[in-house]
Amino acid sequence: MTPLHEVIIKKNTKINPIWIMRQAGRYLPEFREIRKKNQNFIKLCLNQELSTEITLQPLKRFNLDAAIIFSDILMLPYGLNQKVEFEKGFGPKLGEVNIDEMSKLNEVDFVQKIYPVYKAIKKVSINDIVKNKNTIGFVGAPWTLLVYIINQKSPKKSLKKNFFENNSLIKKILLILEKFLKIHIRNQIDNGANVIQIFDSWAGLLEERDLPDYIYSPTLNLVNYVKSLNTPVICFPREIKNYKKFCEIVKPDAIGIDYNIDPKKILNDIKIPIQGGLDPKILLTDKETLKKEATKYLDIFKDHPYIFNLGHGVLPETDPIMMDYLVNMVKDY
Ligand code: CP3
Repeated sequence: MTPLHEVIIKKNTKINPIWIMRQAGRYLPEFREIRKKNQNFIKLCLNQELSTEITLQPLKRFNLDAAIIFSDILMLPYGLNQKVEFEKGFGPKLGEVNIDEMSKLNEVDFVQKIYPVYKAIKKVSINDIVKNKNTIGFVGAPWTLLVYIINQKSPKKSLKKNFFENNSLIKKILLILEKFLKIHIRNQIDNGANVIQIFDSWAGLLEERDLPDYIYSPTLNLVNYVKSLNTPVICFPREIKNYKKFCEIVKPDAIGIDYNIDPKKILNDIKIPIQGGLDPKILLTDKETLKKEATKYLDIFKDHPYIFNLGHGVLPETDPIMMDYLVNMVKDY
């Protein structure tokens, strides 16, 4: 059995597999080398040879237990024919939504537009380096994608004032997302992804009263769909106020926690396998601090099924030597 399945399905507490969010990315010089020559980020994600190579880069360096496919949650709106660009120092920039065009889109055209993502997953999952390891496919949660689609850029700390104004538009987009997220998930699994992670990066922006409509209900629907394909699903509802309630309602197979969460409290609150938590900024300190902080998580979760990861993506300024130290330290624990 693969390491993540051991923990998520068999609830094995003797091992702590490790993978890192954004493990393929800007902190690696070999990634920056490729990126320099490929200024268009979407095109890079659609280059199956290069996205395979980038996905495997961290596995060649570090003793990680899983590959996460080099792609982006915004490939979905791109596949829905919304304009998506990434501007240096600004982040994603999306075009206006054309809801009539989006509503008419069919599955074949969507898959046609992003199929190299699936080809890359296939290539990664059959590569020898990934043998006996996991290939993680992923999607953005409906809420986080809705945020990007309507807000047309990262929302930073709050949503624009009139975000909820056009309720019928929001409803239409959520239905389209439900349909195409399922297609996107199924194609990733059909091509070799054996775990799915759902990133809800902006879950923390919502008030309690809005969670049922925008988070619980659409995410539960997706989680049930992934389960129906016999594939474990990890949810990461970043900065959501009540992880316990989220788990009780949505029932993912495992839950990713952000770095604001007190690991001792979550251990008491949550029975399902847990992933992540360590603040990515700790990797910018020194080995001694890193060892101390990482050990804290390993100690607290020593009798609980636990996958090691960070509480958000690894920062671009991270020294790869620190990453190597962390991976070995977790392996030797
Ligand atoms: O984790 C991995 O190694 C797999 C690849 C991956 C990327 N994005 C590549 C990427 C994954 C899983 C994502 C998910 C993603 N994308 C999320 C959810 C997780 C999170 O970070 O909260 C979100 C919100 C996005 C949208 C996105 N993509 C933003 C806001 C940005 C710009 C900000 C930034 O960090 O640069 C991106 C760009 C992006 N996606 C990069 C990478 C490696 C950087 C691209 C570059 O080289 O400029």
